[in-house]
Amino acid sequence: MKNFLLINKKINSFNKSIGISGDKSLSIRCVIMASQAIGKSKIFNLLDSEDVNNALIAIRKLGIKVIKKKNYCEIHGNGLNGFSFKENTSINAQNSGTFARLILGVVAKTNKKIILNGDKSLSNRDFTRVIEPLNKFGMKVNSRNNKLPLKVLGTEYLRPIDYVELKGSAQVKSCIMLAALNTPGITKIKCKPSRNHTELMFKFLKLNLNIQKKNNHDVISIKGGKQYKSFNYKVPGDISSASFFIVLTILSKNSKLIIKNINVNTTRTGIIDILKMMNAKIFLKNKRQYKGEQISDIHVYSSNNLKCIKCPKDFNSRLIDELPLIFLVCAKAKGTSYFQNLDELRHKESDRLNLSSKFLKMMGVKNQVNKNSIMIKGNPNLSLSKHFTIKNFMKDHRIFMLSCIAAFALGGKWKIYDKDSINTSFPKFLSTLKKLGGNFK
Ligand code: S3P
Repeated sequence: MKNFLLINKKINSFNKSIGISGDKSLSIRCVIMASQAIGKSKIFNLLDSEDVNNALIAIRKLGIKVIKKKNYCEIHGNGLNGFSFKENTSINAQNSGTFARLILGVVAKTNKKIILNGDKSLSNRDFTRVIEPLNKFGMKVNSRNNKLPLKVLGTEYLRPIDYVELKGSAQVKSCIMLAALNTPGITKIKCKPSRNHTELMFKFLKLNLNIQKKNNHDVISIKGGKQYKSFNYKVPGDISSASFFIVLTILSKNSKLIIKNINVNTTRTGIIDILKMMNAKIFLKNKRQYKGEQISDIHVYSSNNLKCIKCPKDFNSRLIDELPLIFLVCAKAKGTSYFQNLDELRHKESDRLNLSSKFLKMMGVKNQVNKNSIMIKGNPNLSLSKHFTIKNFMKDHRIFMLSCIAAFALGGKWKIYDKDSINTSFPKFLSTLKKLGGNFK
């Protein structure tokens, strides 16, 4: 079957209201937390994508009963460390860095060896960041070069740790928090702020958690060993997936879009703040709270007069997955935009700093990467007519979707490979584009 998409025409103006599939970060956390709760949890609107489905397959392999019903997913946990599986069980996180890092904390106390594998992209990513703290807890996590496959052995004799996390990585923070849950005594993590879904879920589940703000850092203390009960959860829409349509609307003419029920947790809404600073017309309406998270409808309008931005460094972790899309908006903004300290952007499903720069150059947008910074010269009259082929991007789902948005918003004739990559995070991406009138073959 052909695995590319052809786009030959810009999208016409649209005025629509859409929903977006469940948040990926929250879906994976629901699976993980339910797998070690006591009893039957029901997760509604769980994202039906490869990353999440692979997480379900993996917890099944660890002996957890999972039943997919029509409107929800049932997960039968047996409490902390309530897994049952054979020595040398192998689990495969495939493309998901989040599941791979978080599950390592969950199995901290198991006394049977697990092998953790991933796909080509995940096998290229760094695991030192979690191997180091986990071994401090007393686990034995080994690999040849700090990359997958990992050999993982937990211990009954976990000891609490004090750890400093300076990358601003929610995956690392969450991995340590999950190991701490299994560990008697108090674990302390001093970390650069990053998405706080795990903290909010711990609070909602009434776990022993304390968070203090100290000099731009969070100091999280967790008292481990407390069992918790199963729960029900309705996952709100994913802002990272919604962002593709936010940017499409901003860059298209005479268009309006309402995106309903999106998680607008402020640790995730950097893209909205930055785009507003660039003069984009975005409004949050009907804001409400849900189990510690904030949900809202997002109203977006076509936006002329976009201006460049010098992105403050402390925004990076609040918009890390949306940076390639924000760069695309900068390409159409007046003036030169700057982003710095983007080292972490190189460590995603692909080196997204390098790929974004190449992508913009291919479209004729002047930009320069210097170490971990990028400078982008915008052109408000940018419009494309040439042929473009997008191939060899480590099947990175976000680069595929970025290319589609560029094609529909700016024109040109595009052949975009690895269409299947959307299945990792947003299988409904193409059908949503169709709803807005996007034509592709
Ligand atoms: C995620 C954290 C971020 C983000 C990823 C999802 C999470 O990664 O890029 O898509 O759910 O915790 P880092 O923790 O590496 O920053």
